[in-house]
Amino acid sequence: MAHHPDPYRAVDRQVDPLKMVKSLEARGRTPTQVRLRRRFLVFAGLRPGWKVLEVGSGTGVVSRDVAALIGPTGSVLGVDPSRLFVREARRLARESGLGPRVRFEVGHGARLRFRDGAFDATLAVTVLLHVPKAPEIVKEMIRVTRPGGVVAIQDQDFGTLALDHPDRPLTEKIFDGVARKIYADPWSGRTLYRMLRRLGLDSVRLLTDVYQDTTFEPWSRTFLERRAENAVKFGLVSARQAERWLAGIEGQAYARTFVMTLNFYGAAGVKPQGPRR
Ligand SMILES: C[S@@+](CC[C@H](N)C(=O)[O-])C[C@H]1O[C@@H](n2cnc3c(N)ncnc32)[C@H](O)[C@@H]1O
Repeated sequence: MAHHPDPYRAVDRQVDPLKMVKSLEARGRTPTQVRLRRRFLVFAGLRPGWKVLEVGSGTGVVSRDVAALIGPTGSVLGVDPSRLFVREARRLARESGLGPRVRFEVGHGARLRFRDGAFDATLAVTVLLHVPKAPEIVKEMIRVTRPGGVVAIQDQDFGTLALDHPDRPLTEKIFDGVARKIYADPWSGRTLYRMLRRLGLDSVRLLTDVYQDTTFEPWSRTFLERRAENAVKFGLVSARQAERWLAGIEGQAYARTFVMTLNFYGAAGVKPQGPRR
């Protein structure tokens, strides 16, 4: 079977999944990403002592931060379909000295093995844009959250990706073309607020935040190189055009005029106390 163009749909079937581990961890360390993530977790309203589930936990970047927020009396469980990510997440959490309050296991977001109301809060960060039927996952997250508990989701929105590049038409072609080809919904970020309201959560709130890079962070470099590589692979541009595009980016970085921004949308709501409306 041909691989889906989005590697996050089937991490363990990729040629070099360890490269994806490095990339997620590099993103996790990027200062603006650290701020974005922590601001979202505070916005979600996680409390000390809470039992939290993270769906699509990857290498555990978010769960490790959750552990710090909920303190020694809380616990966080990350589930992810990738065995390799789960193994790496366990190793990285162990190395961070977090102990048994952070655990990881293999699981699919649309088929969670937990009883109704098992968690105080459920989270999914940069997951839904990768999955074909996002509401199925969110319904499961709501099911396993206790009444009065919180469901919180954060996603980028590739319709808001902006790069100051001398060749705007080429930039648009690469960004739009690659995003349409890879993601189930490249514009998922802006839909989260609507999704949580439609699925019956109370007190739904939205936090819009921006990834902003003016220093050409290593994660932005890898991200843009991958965009160029995919644009060639998908037949959107020639190898020569992709090279010229990357050279334009290097030029901006050399002149210290590099600017890339991307909106991240966080939505959070409360599971109603009574039967779901
Ligand atoms: C971009 S990574 C985000 C990882 C982590 N949340 C973070 O922000 O660092 C997307 C994750 O979603 C996972 N994923 C893909 N399909 C999934 C599904 N159906 N249910 C749960 N997770 C899924 C992937 O394995 C991957 O770990």
